[in-house]
Amino acid sequence: MIERSLVIIKPDGVKRCLVGEIIKRFENAGLKIVGMKMVWADKKFAETHYKAHKSKPFFKELVEFITEGPVIAIVIEGVHAVDNVRRLIGSTSPHQAAPGTIRGDFAHISMAYASAKGLGGKNVVHASGSKPEAEEEIKLWFTKQELHSYKTVHEEHVF
Ligand code: RTP
Ligand code: MG
Repeated sequence: MIERSLVIIKPDGVKRCLVGEIIKRFENAGLKIVGMKMVWADKKFAETHYKAHKSKPFFKELVEFITEGPVIAIVIEGVHAVDNVRRLIGSTSPHQAAPGTIRGDFAHISMAYASAKGLGGKNVVHASGSKPEAEEEIKLWFTKQELHSYKTVHEEHVF
């Protein structure tokens, strides 16, 4: 039941100086950071990360958006981490993301608006969509040496 999920604070989140605010949401829930770094992904790397969307009409814009500046890549660990992280970030389209979620609190646009403008959907964060996706994404973004095992206070008080 203890899982790991990949979170990326996208270029819009970094440029808007929301890094601390976003990380706080995961830490407050008792989830553990086991890896973290700043990366400016190139086109090839971004295309690999989002390869599942290669045939989508928004693929080019998505790759342009995710490579327009540095991102913060984080590996989050905890009980049902994949589902819990998705719950904390909210729906893909910020206009449908509930208040209290990261996308609901820090963005409001819709994917339809982004598509109409020919832009990538700026929704502040990425998170793995499933356990297999998380395993594949963590391998893509992090080496084994960049991931750490340690105990937080939450493991005594929250777990
Ligand atoms: P992510 O992978 O970034 O965590 O987002 P997600 O699972 O919630 O949504 P997904 O369907 O995987 O879409 C990946 C990213 O593509 C952009 N997008 N643009 N213009 C559009 O219609 C559109 N739809 C999706 C968003 O940046 C979305 O997060
Ligand atoms: Mg996705």
